[in-house]
Amino acid sequence: MSRYRLETFAVVGAGNMGSGIAQKIATEGFPVLLLDLDQEKVERGIGIVRRMLDEGVERKVFRPEQAEAILGRIRGTTDWNDLAEADLVVEAVFEDLDVKRDVFRRLGEVCRPEALLATNTSSFRVADVAAAAAHPERVLGLHYFYHPAKNRLVEVVGHAGTDPAAVEAGWASQEAIAKTPIASADAPGFVVNRYFVPWVNEAVRILDDGVADVATIEWAAKQAFGVGMGPFQLMNVTGVPISLHAATTLGRELHPFYAPAKGLVEQVEGGKGDWDLSGEVDESRYQAVADRMMGVVFYVAAALVSEGVGTVEDVDIGARVGLRWPKGPFQMINERGVPEAAELARRVVEPWGLEVPNLIANPGDRHIRIRLVRFEERGDLAYVRFQRPDALNALNVRVGVQLTNAIERARVSGKKGLVLAATGKAFVAGADIKFFVDNLEKGAFEPIYHFARVGHDVFRSLNGKRQPSIARVQGLALGGGCELTLACDFVVVSPKATFGLPETGIGIVPGLGGTQRLPRRIGLPLAKWMVYTGEMVGAKQAVEIGLADEVVDFLDLDEACARYAERGRQPGRKAPQEPPSEEWRPLWDFFANHRVEAILNGEADTGGDPRLERAVKKMGQKSPHALLAAERLLDAGAEMELEEGLDLELDALKEVFLHADALEGMKALLERRRPEFQPLREAVHG
Ligand SMILES: NC(=O)c1ccc[n+]([C@@H]2O[C@H](COP(=O)([O-])OP(=O)(O)OC[C@H]3O[C@@H](n4cnc5c(N)ncnc54)[C@H](O)[C@@H]3O)[C@@H](O)[C@H]2O)c1
Repeated sequence: MSRYRLETFAVVGAGNMGSGIAQKIATEGFPVLLLDLDQEKVERGIGIVRRMLDEGVERKVFRPEQAEAILGRIRGTTDWNDLAEADLVVEAVFEDLDVKRDVFRRLGEVCRPEALLATNTSSFRVADVAAAAAHPERVLGLHYFYHPAKNRLVEVVGHAGTDPAAVEAGWASQEAIAKTPIASADAPGFVVNRYFVPWVNEAVRILDDGVADVATIEWAAKQAFGVGMGPFQLMNVTGVPISLHAATTLGRELHPFYAPAKGLVEQVEGGKGDWDLSGEVDESRYQAVADRMMGVVFYVAAALVSEGVGTVEDVDIGARVGLRWPKGPFQMINERGVPEAAELARRVVEPWGLEVPNLIANPGDRHIRIRLVRFEERGDLAYVRFQRPDALNALNVRVGVQLTNAIERARVSGKKGLVLAATGKAFVAGADIKFFVDNLEKGAFEPIYHFARVGHDVFRSLNGKRQPSIARVQGLALGGGCELTLACDFVVVSPKATFGLPETGIGIVPGLGGTQRLPRRIGLPLAKWMVYTGEMVGAKQAVEIGLADEVVDFLDLDEACARYAERGRQPGRKAPQEPPSEEWRPLWDFFANHRVEAILNGEADTGGDPRLERAVKKMGQKSPHALLAAERLLDAGAEMELEEGLDLELDALKEVFLHADALEGMKALLERRRPEFQPLREAVHG
């Protein structure tokens, strides 16, 4: 077990950030203390949360009782001694080093010796803040983005003296509150502000140089980066002095290139307030503006990766999740073409005496490699991690190919176990539906088959092979994600893991081994229940029915994976022949004894059992054609060896995908409407 614990959280500073951080923690089900200097400030902070929640209720994000429960988990306080019970304290006080240090000194006095302490500083080094703490080894940076209850990104920053286990625990704490963590070195601006601040600053330099006016720069930046707000409007929204402060810090710590533009200094020091955004857009200046803004981002992104502050992937995830840019800097570099991107960067930084990093100036390849799946070695284990959190780590052809390669690397690493893990709220939430729809609309089945074939091959390489494979399921495992876990030797889950096979609701069947592996894990009747109803199964239930091996706290997931790796391979599990407990018997018997057609025709007696009624109702919303196809595959598979069953499933895909229900079901999902499936009559006789 980890020496850290994650039951009670605390936030110091109930301002804009602190109140939002507390809100998010409480929303995810944890009790949180919110401390500020006096009662009025505490109440102000709680008031901010209340307003946010009221808004959420109005927009139907929460039910009123949920909002009440969230608020009920936040306890305001001015008494530092209350922090004695906290397992993780996040400091979000004024951006003033002395104030922050004083907070950490006090935390050292009141907190448990094992408590994790985090700073949300934007501009200081974590090490400088930690220096004041009694236990700097337990201090890390957790840098959130506004609004922290809505924006999922958080940068997890260890400093040179942080205990690696504390960084891991900090990371786990953010997974536990459904954040999307990225790792950053303890460097000025961490990952995201390192390029975001220069992006804003460059806009003012472009203005200073007379290249274009505010309205034109604003427009061109929005066009070029596909964002809703340009740099000047963003400065107005967050406060122009904050931008000046951020650029000043980067300039001081890094290089004069990062220092504030003359115009930015004048705007603040001249007391000019917000930027005036009005004016006529001069479209002829587009390229000049866009190229400079791009050049700056390309340079800084390449520089920070070259210095080891963050990875290519984290730079892009940071942009997409934290800044809501549609594309990350490295995606843009690849789209522009690396040589041209490097040239844009060179034009911007050469006057400053800076060189474009080799990463883009002399790339080994035509493209910068962006890994959707990462391979890493951790102790005795090889980790294969999905890192496309903003797409809920959905599977597609590129992911499939990268997954194959990463698993191969894990195999040759000779590590004791192979762990499949993921970043963000979802483990893997299915496959890219748009890819299916695009192909079906063109009448092309071959690419879909190819995708499934690659998936089948890679999944087959997981179970019972040289190394045991362990799925580390921290969040949603839907569709192909659920099937991936079924292909592993072991499945270790967090309390927030959720499994489900929603395919029949979109007119298809589980096509990555689900119809064959699921019954072998949980028994044919319960497999039918899951496939026919698409019902979601939570962590505890998953363990009960055999879908997962163990549920452990976020903090202990990695350790549990290591424990299972010790057990070795688990070739072929025996399908259970009995329900896991009496509680499951009604569902088990119902699906063991009734055919899809009879259920859909209302001929199967539920005896008024609410769970069965619910199951029947859910089946009524699915594609009858898909349900019948699933039934055939599940029943036939029960009579065969697994390998044969898997081939059968793969062979059946064409008939399933080329049926009208498949396109209709998947299009309806993308269009967020109810699908209209062919009725049972036609499915049976058609
Ligand atoms: N605003 C952002 O977009 C943003 C983003 C990321 C990080 N940050 C960082 O988050 C921190 C907080 O920023 P904010 O915008 O919420 O500031 P804020 O001014 O809204 O809130 C700061 C709060 O801290 C309280 N405080 C000050 N000294 C204290 C002390 N000694 N003990 C307890 N409480 C104290 C203040 O009373 C105030 O309520 C800063 O370090 C900032 O750099 C801000």
